[in-house]
Amino acid sequence: GATALAAASFAGSAAISQTIGFSQIGSESGWRAAETTLTHQEAEARGIELKFADAQQKQENQIKALRSFIAQGVDAILLAPVVATGWDSVLEEAKEAEIPVVLLDRMVDSSDDLYLTAVGSDLVHEGEVAGEWLVGAVGDEQCNVVELQGTTGSSPAIDRKTGFENAISGHDNISIIRSQTGDFTRTKGKEVMESFLKAEGGGENICALYAHNDDMAVGAIQAIKEAGLQPGEDILVVSIDAVPDIFQAMAAGEANATVELTPNMAGPAFDALDAYLKDGTMPEKFIQTESKLYTQDDDPQAVYEQKKDLGY
Ligand code: AHR
Repeated sequence: GATALAAASFAGSAAISQTIGFSQIGSESGWRAAETTLTHQEAEARGIELKFADAQQKQENQIKALRSFIAQGVDAILLAPVVATGWDSVLEEAKEAEIPVVLLDRMVDSSDDLYLTAVGSDLVHEGEVAGEWLVGAVGDEQCNVVELQGTTGSSPAIDRKTGFENAISGHDNISIIRSQTGDFTRTKGKEVMESFLKAEGGGENICALYAHNDDMAVGAIQAIKEAGLQPGEDILVVSIDAVPDIFQAMAAGEANATVELTPNMAGPAFDALDAYLKDGTMPEKFIQTESKLYTQDDDPQAVYEQKKDLGY
């Protein structure tokens, strides 16, 4: 596009600065806040002008932000899509305007020629890692699981559920007895866990909680304690993200395992965009980040100390 041409005509001079629009979902979790912080930091370090729009969890706000970025003629767009469906029209408009779109951390159901690349983890695999941990932890014992799902219709909520179910299938001693959305937030996680505990007569027969993110787990841990049970022992807690707060809970013995999702999706996204905008280098369609399991054996206090100043 325009930047590539401009860059070519100034060959030899300093890099032309890029203007990139970022449509962020909101700030529902510690992980999301870190992704926002790190995206700003990465942009600043690279001399990119970042136009930031917080959608407050609403897809219509994201669509408006994308249209405004297109109207302003930005060089590229980063999109963290709140839900998976409903993106075709606006992505077609970006394509028409020759503005590359990079998806961050969540996927869309649209055809993959409507975006340049997607940076994210294998979300099904994350759920499988969490489920396999539980399978190993309970052995042959009967285990009733309650599940806190992420935002309804979001790719992580759909895929993390599938992955976990894959992992426990064939293990008849483990079953999900209740499953509801907690919207990826601490407040909702606590509230829904309270209702699970109430519905299960106080929670004595709940063996484990699987939360689609750490924030919901942290909220639920509070609910479990208030119900007079010991999280991490009476009710095992496994979740996803690996934010500092869950390591504090693990260090206190109140959470058992988490699967790491890097909040620095912007680094690989800017690398891919830089190459594309300079000389048209096509990135792979999916740039996959790692999913590492942490348990109480991994010195959670030390991990907390390492992570606490990293933008969360
Ligand atoms: O899309 C990634 C998920 O969104 C994170 O796991 C969660 O914390 C966030 O809100």
